[in-house]
Amino acid sequence: MKLVVCKNYDEMSDKAARIIKAGMILKNDIVLGLATGSTPVGVYKKLIEANKEGKISFKNVRTVNLDEYVGISYNHDQSYHKFMDDNLFDYVDIDKKNTHVPDGRATDLNRACKEYDEMIESYGSIDIQVLGIGQNGHIGFNEPQSTFSLGTHIVDLTENTREANKRFFNNIDEVPTKAITMGTKHIMQAKVIVLVANGKNKARA
Ligand code: F6R
Repeated sequence: MKLVVCKNYDEMSDKAARIIKAGMILKNDIVLGLATGSTPVGVYKKLIEANKEGKISFKNVRTVNLDEYVGISYNHDQSYHKFMDDNLFDYVDIDKKNTHVPDGRATDLNRACKEYDEMIESYGSIDIQVLGIGQNGHIGFNEPQSTFSLGTHIVDLTENTREANKRFFNNIDEVPTKAITMGTKHIMQAKVIVLVANGKNKARA
């Protein structure tokens, strides 16, 4: 593991984006694992800039996102599908058929988890996985105590997580009670992991 301390958010985003850009140049059909949340937004901005300048292309890139709320419509402001469109996919030359976000609206959620794992495995493994981290150390919706062998699974959101996320919804009742998340199994199988963390509140994690 290499720990890179940066002087600010912009430098952190730039350094992380450089690793991803290099990967994309070396392998044009790279498999990128992507995260939502506030931290990677700066990285995505740098990738959008590089794509607009013609330095990188997403034409053959495949993406696999970490997580999604269960039962939320894809055009809801808090949907991670919408987040990815708004912060990356709608601004680069990616083929949306090659982008994957877990299906939180599936009628058979267990089947959706199994199919998501099969899709990841059909790609071999993730080449570069982008991660944020929660203040308590959560990755995706995997809480620190979750086991390393888990594939994609359904998580009951704790009251703490729902409370923390309620600021993004009109009220606590609107905050979903479950989420679908990639497990640490496929995350840890990624060839490279770029974890971005910003701010004192993340230092302990
Ligand atoms: C989102 C995700 C979450 C976030 C974490 C940190 O896909 O995986 O685990 O990375 O909650 O969120 P921010 O970056 O908003 O502090």
